[in-house]
Amino acid sequence: MTTLRQRLTFWYTGALGATILVFGASLYLDRRVSSLREIDQRLSLEAELSAGWLTESRRVVERLIVPDPLGIPTLDPAIAAYFEAFRDYLVIVSPTGQLLFLSVQARALPPAAIDSLLALVQPPVPSFEGTATISPQLPAVRYLIQPVPAAAGQIGVVLVAAATNSVLFGPSALLRSMVVSLPILLLGSILLGFWLAGTALKPLDAMVAELEAIADGRSLHRRLPVPAGADETRRLALAANRTFGRLEDSFSALYRFTADASHELKTPLMVLRAGVERTLTNPKTPPENLEALDASLAEINRMSELVENLLMLARADEGRAPLVVTECDLRDLLAEAADTAGILAEDKGITVTTTMPEQPVHLPVDRARFSQMLLNLVTNAIKYTPEAGEVLLELADAGDDVTILVRDTGRGIAPGDLPHIFDRFWRSDPARSRVGQPTGTGLGLAITKWIAEAHGGEITVQSRPGRGSIFTVRLPRGTERIVESGE
Ligand SMILES: Nc1ncnc2c1ncn2[C@@H]1O[C@H](COP(=O)(O)OP(=O)(O)O)[C@@H](O)[C@H]1O
Ligand SMILES: [Mg+2]
Repeated sequence: MTTLRQRLTFWYTGALGATILVFGASLYLDRRVSSLREIDQRLSLEAELSAGWLTESRRVVERLIVPDPLGIPTLDPAIAAYFEAFRDYLVIVSPTGQLLFLSVQARALPPAAIDSLLALVQPPVPSFEGTATISPQLPAVRYLIQPVPAAAGQIGVVLVAAATNSVLFGPSALLRSMVVSLPILLLGSILLGFWLAGTALKPLDAMVAELEAIADGRSLHRRLPVPAGADETRRLALAANRTFGRLEDSFSALYRFTADASHELKTPLMVLRAGVERTLTNPKTPPENLEALDASLAEINRMSELVENLLMLARADEGRAPLVVTECDLRDLLAEAADTAGILAEDKGITVTTTMPEQPVHLPVDRARFSQMLLNLVTNAIKYTPEAGEVLLELADAGDDVTILVRDTGRGIAPGDLPHIFDRFWRSDPARSRVGQPTGTGLGLAITKWIAEAHGGEITVQSRPGRGSIFTVRLPRGTERIVESGE
């Protein structure tokens, strides 16, 4: 029962099944009562007719009873002929309870059953009607006993009886047909219910697909299509759209604030840096102050980088960081990054190796942003690799996509940290890195990821602590590669 559709089908079928059961049970009970009444009516009519015929015959002839060829007294065959067409059990006995006549049906019964029928009419007759079991193999019978007073002395009573299942479409036939039709009905209702639920939920399904597309976070400006009419789906769409509107407002306020704040911080930082630099280069500055000024300059530089990065991410969030795309040979960009890396790596004695295809690797990219991405990865590789390590840059063209690998033999990243390294401001060991050697803002990889994704690509990382890390940027070649290419 995972989907709403399945649940609705289940409940629908359950409700229908219960209804059919209740309806069928009441139909069955009613049929049982009414079929008995039908039999009783038939029997009383037959008893009436039989007694009437005997009374009538007695009026015409003196002797109703004659001896048969064996000398046993029986009903005169001329009179008995009338009863030959009788459909139910008919027993006629003398006042002493001696058998005088059996109808065709009764004659066909097994001897034990005939005895049971006879027992019912032995004087004194216990009751005039009822239900009796005459044989364990046969269904119970309803019977009716009628005296024939006009033929007193010769005829005692007539007994008419019929099996309780002898009515047309009786309760057992009804039960049988219900047992046969119930599974077919239920199967039909499952199919119908499944189809109905699917049809009813279709607008909801479409809405969920649309919602999932919006929920990726960068599409808050999108809205659900509002269905016509006044049903629940329309209200849902309106409510969701209102929520998106509010979310979009607050997100843009947040982006706006970050962008404005970083923008406003840029100028004072520039003034500050110029001031410190001037003081540093001023020969009149007392030498004991130089160290403090140096530290201030480093902090100012770090802050400028932070503000620059923040501004860029805020603009990207706002969708106001269009890519300026030109067709580039990625080998050139990689070579530039490798050059810069070579200079940075020199101090630490790290070797930087580059592997590239012979042929040009042309791809439409934003040159400046792409270079920034490569530089971020390369500076990280150098920053987090101890002296005499190795950094490898690799470009591979597989036709459908282009892959850039930045591999280092550095300290690596703990498995628990891997899911966080692309988060904003996330740094593996902030306390140490602030005071110690590797400085940074924790925004580099967040920006790198944004640049890769803005180019329609993706970035992944593999790392083993102590063994090094591999950052892989995969860029597919395709028509819709550039997500936002200018506005
Ligand atoms: N090549 C690497 N080797 C080991 N750790 C790395 C590497 N690149 C990134 N990291 C980890 O990911 C964190 C985030 O990187 P980044 O966003 O570039 O910030 P920053 O370099 O300013 O610290 C780093 O602080 C570091 O802990
Ligand atoms: Mg970095």
